[in-house]
Amino acid sequence: MQDTSTIAINDQNRGGLFSPDDEAEAMGWDRSEPYPRFLALLEEGKPVREGGLDQLMGLPPQLRQEELRGRKHYTFLSFDAVNKAFMDSERFTNHVYDYLSKPALGDTLLNMDGARHRRVRNVAKPFFKPSFAETWWNDKWIVQAVDELFDRITLKDHADLNMELCAPLPMSVISAGFGIPQEEFLNFRIALTDIMTSGHNDPAKAEAGGRVVQAVLGRAFEERRGDPRDDLITKLVHADFEDDDGTVRKLTDDEVMRYCNLIVFAGGGTTWRQLGITIKALMDNPDQMEALRADRSLLRQTIQESARWYPTDPHFLRWIAQDTEIEGVTIEAGSIAWLCVSTANRDRTQWDDPDRFDIHRPVKRNFAFGAGNHACLGQHLSRQEMEVALNAVLDRLPGLRWDPEKPSSTITGGTLMQRGPDALHVRFTPGH
Ligand code: HEM
Repeated sequence: MQDTSTIAINDQNRGGLFSPDDEAEAMGWDRSEPYPRFLALLEEGKPVREGGLDQLMGLPPQLRQEELRGRKHYTFLSFDAVNKAFMDSERFTNHVYDYLSKPALGDTLLNMDGARHRRVRNVAKPFFKPSFAETWWNDKWIVQAVDELFDRITLKDHADLNMELCAPLPMSVISAGFGIPQEEFLNFRIALTDIMTSGHNDPAKAEAGGRVVQAVLGRAFEERRGDPRDDLITKLVHADFEDDDGTVRKLTDDEVMRYCNLIVFAGGGTTWRQLGITIKALMDNPDQMEALRADRSLLRQTIQESARWYPTDPHFLRWIAQDTEIEGVTIEAGSIAWLCVSTANRDRTQWDDPDRFDIHRPVKRNFAFGAGNHACLGQHLSRQEMEVALNAVLDRLPGLRWDPEKPSSTITGGTLMQRGPDALHVRFTPGH
């Protein structure tokens, strides 16, 4: 029988998982505030610059991988430059992820290109399309997870919404969607983080993490083969995959495992942080919070605006596969492109007063969820989770305000990676 209760994040099981600062420290990233330097770079008006984003920001080298460090680096700052790179996956390839994610996660969508990427992505695509997010994910898992979290939150008159809502929600939804009991899933998530953060400095810890992941998922696959259920693991285990030679077969256990690892890795931390950023932006702009309370048709654009104004991940990397010229800059094959979504999302040629968070802006494309062939597979699921959670914030926390007795909320994390609020301490009238 599956345990459907939501995950409560406490100090025992938190394990550094839900602190943007701890996460950045474990990865050895710089942790200074980036926006003043992002905006200064934009002001200089050059859409593409020689040098990595770390170098242009005056930071120590942020990439550990020698294979990447020893190359020429370029930074794409403007909307148009970033757009061109995301949309042209033949010149700007994901081969760079062979060094970034493959050592820890194995061969996944992230490091694939071309026809192979499309065929592997097609396996899971149906389970992440908008209509599936709005029905299957929403009705089966999201509404219940949000209700349970709020039943717990509203017993009191105060909460840290970062720990009590934003962090546990995506984990609860994914673990329920996978059909893995919550506590087992938490161990799986901790093990996956150990693999990501320890591979370079503590191989034994990373290997131990690998064994936990193998045990949890291996057991789940075996069960689903004999006893199909209405969950994501069953769907992946039984899905058809078109192989290189055109034959249609099922994925191997190893292939399903890598897919699951990618989904948990890509989906666990991002929704948590972007939801937190959205709540903070609304709390800091009470007029907009009230406008949204009065007109929920603004929800979708509120989420779009939060992702534009402050995306969790300021940049993504690409490998330049052919000699190329972009925005007047000549770049040789084998160079590394840093696509700075934070500056592209603040480009003055695209938005009026782009540094202002404004939920009344007309909806327009931005790059928080990427773009092109590798655009975020889970974005509709993520938007659905955030929408249901924000509705509950508006409906179930009357009198919502910052807690004056607690430190104010700050967006922290890596300077160039994985940013989100350190805490969201609020007060409200309990019992709703
Ligand atoms: C606010 C939440 C999220 C943000 C901001 C986000 C952002 C992104 C971005 C920018 C990419 C593209 C990376 C690149 O092009 O190099 C990406 C890829 C991906 N995301 Fe998300 N993501 C979020 C949530 C999720 C969720 C909830 C899932 C799954 C449950 C997910 C699964 C994936 C996968 C599988 C890919 C790889 C797609 C591919 O390479 O074809 N993401 N995400």
